[in-house]
Amino acid sequence: MQSNLQKLHLAIIMDGNGRWAKKRNLPRFKGHCAGVNSLRTIIQACPEFHISTLTIYAFSSDNWKRPKSETSHLMDLLRLYLTSELDIFLKNKIRFMAIGRRDRLPEDVVELIEDIETQTKNETQLTLRIALDYSARYEILQIAQKNSPALKENHSSFSRALSGLDRGCDVDLLIRTSGEKRLSDFLLWECAYSELHFTDTDWPDFSKENLKIAVDDFRSRNRRFGSLEPENSPNLKLTEMHGQKNTYKTMRTK
Ligand code: FPP
Repeated sequence: MQSNLQKLHLAIIMDGNGRWAKKRNLPRFKGHCAGVNSLRTIIQACPEFHISTLTIYAFSSDNWKRPKSETSHLMDLLRLYLTSELDIFLKNKIRFMAIGRRDRLPEDVVELIEDIETQTKNETQLTLRIALDYSARYEILQIAQKNSPALKENHSSFSRALSGLDRGCDVDLLIRTSGEKRLSDFLLWECAYSELHFTDTDWPDFSKENLKIAVDDFRSRNRRFGSLEPENSPNLKLTEMHGQKNTYKTMRTK
């Protein structure tokens, strides 16, 4: 794989865990457990595919509408995940962050999150952002209602305020599994120019090979960001026009 490939922000809607379990006559939570294993596989594979930020949709604000038994199982799974992964994060230089509301999560879960965020804050190989009690509309409204100075400036300062990172957090590629083709209130601002990849594979079956297919598909696309093809874009330098497809150089002009 070429080393000059741009680092990517990948976002994933990990859908189809419940259906995966149902097809196997298993209770739904077994699907979520299997989903955690897929997550581990994909996190491990990120550096190989030049993915430097991974944002996963683990629990939407609307998921509170599910039966209490399911939301409790998901919180238990989260507890288990957070207590078991710290060593792996440190070993693989993964910075962990949670995005979304914290005021409605169980207190002990918030403590675990904050502890891992602190312990991994200097790691740089991969930024792993887990969306929990997350609603993009809510996040955008929060920033807007705070009447943040960022709003008076420009898109990139708004993006920084929204992501909590010192860089913006535009998504390059968004994957949704299980045949569904919706954004479901996930990263609405950050996905303004994302490439979308939908697959029928349920999340627990999503493998490194599936990730390769999605990333290869992404790399073959011609991203114009509303601009023109290189040959019609007078502001692009000649060197920027070579290998446009394979090396994924953005076509933004100055
Ligand atoms: C969407 O529907 C998926 C979720 C609500 C949660 C996905 C969560 C995980 C894969 C595991 C939790 C992650 C961590 C980090 C602990 P669905 O897959 O529940 O069900 P569906 O097949 O009925 O759409």
